[in-house]
Amino acid sequence: MSASNKNIVILISGTGSNMAAIVRAAERGQWARRHQARVAAVVSNKADAPGLAFAREHGIATAVVDHKAYPSREAFDTALAAEVDRHQPALVVLSGFMRILTAGFVSHYAGRLINIHPSLLPAFTGLHTHQRAIDMGCRFAGATVHRVTAELDHGDILDQAVVPVLSGDTAATLAARVLTQEHLMYPRVVERLIAG
Ligand code: GAR
Repeated sequence: MSASNKNIVILISGTGSNMAAIVRAAERGQWARRHQARVAAVVSNKADAPGLAFAREHGIATAVVDHKAYPSREAFDTALAAEVDRHQPALVVLSGFMRILTAGFVSHYAGRLINIHPSLLPAFTGLHTHQRAIDMGCRFAGATVHRVTAELDHGDILDQAVVPVLSGDTAATLAARVLTQEHLMYPRVVERLIAG
């Protein structure tokens, strides 16, 4: 990929609010123009992911690769990589993408695959992070952007955002507080990596 044409491909499974934050940042940002970077495609494993409509409205190519249509993780990941590679991405951004990726997929995108996880890693890998943080009596929670390795929710930490856990918090109120910070942090990391 030439330095003057940096395609970003974003993978989603649902709302895609982090994807939307990155799209808006790329639309507005000097950095995107300077590096000729753009969100080239949004790919979902779910046809009904609400984020797909947002992407289309912003003139971004979308595709659905439905994991249920494939007999194995390997077969799904091969199809997913074929779709992603059509855009020759400089950066592949997992944004609420709720599938575990195979080692083959991860190594194919070594150095250009990142994820956002709604906890202060290495605490609370996996699911239900906010409820688990509340149940443990954590005073602080947050989100982490990290490079993706074959091990779930591991890999070098690129940035973290911290929020307080308030008395009376539910998983939903805490998730909303964390998500606000995710929307600030994730575009910032994308910009930094694109400017690389
Ligand atoms: C975000 O909170 C993100 O951190 C989390 O899903 C939410 C997606 O929101 N990701 C994971 O749990 C990944 N294991 P969004 O679709 O509105 O960006």
